[in-house]
Amino acid sequence: MSDRFRELIAERRVAPSILSADFAKLGAQIDEVMDAGARVIHVDVMDGHFVPPITIGPLVAAAVADLVHAKGGAIDVHMMIEAPERQIEEFAKAGADSITFHAEATPHANRTLAAIRDLGCCAGIAINPGTPVEAVAELRNLADLVLCMTVNPGWGGQSFIPSSPDKVERLRPLVGTAVIEVDGGIDTETAGPIAGAGASLLVAGSAVFGTDDPAAAYQAIAKAADAT
Ligand code: DX5
Ligand code: ZN
Repeated sequence: MSDRFRELIAERRVAPSILSADFAKLGAQIDEVMDAGARVIHVDVMDGHFVPPITIGPLVAAAVADLVHAKGGAIDVHMMIEAPERQIEEFAKAGADSITFHAEATPHANRTLAAIRDLGCCAGIAINPGTPVEAVAELRNLADLVLCMTVNPGWGGQSFIPSSPDKVERLRPLVGTAVIEVDGGIDTETAGPIAGAGASLLVAGSAVFGTDDPAAAYQAIAKAADAT
């Protein structure tokens, strides 16, 4: 699982987030963006505690993983949940290629990153806009991904926080070999500046699935980011 993901994120990529997809035709919408070139599909897991909404659990993640793997892609699971260490095994079993949890959600980040790798997945640590970049400094050798939120987590369709490129630049020297991921408010306007600051995995939800033509929207954002 993690090898496929590592290979994919060696190049700059835009990862469509299914949070903004039409769940009644999820399979068709995933096919559409993958046929347009997307290879990393972002899956947002929310528990109604760490953030107010409740979204996707392991059952839906497993269905999505089957579809995405069949087309040579990978699923990037973003857990916005309390006590993430209790859920990682279920998401690994569901076929997650990477599992990212929030630094703010557990006092056991070091142990949880190691446990995710032990389960055969790439491990990611996320930080909210209000969390300083130094929060990840001690974890650099344990994380494959560092996810810098560019909106406050919980909802699609919010505006990109303008200070985010500056934050990504300050994050860059602290992450070692981990890839910097950004999530929230990514579109054709914001993709270029945030990629230029050092982000190489760019999540885009409403700017892809909130449009009439998700395939064309995906390609326009990938072009703006100079992504594969
Ligand atoms: C928000 C989620 C995002 C969401 C981004 O908390 O983590 O992945 O889908 O949506 P947009 O791209 O619409 O900001
Ligand atoms: Zn997300």
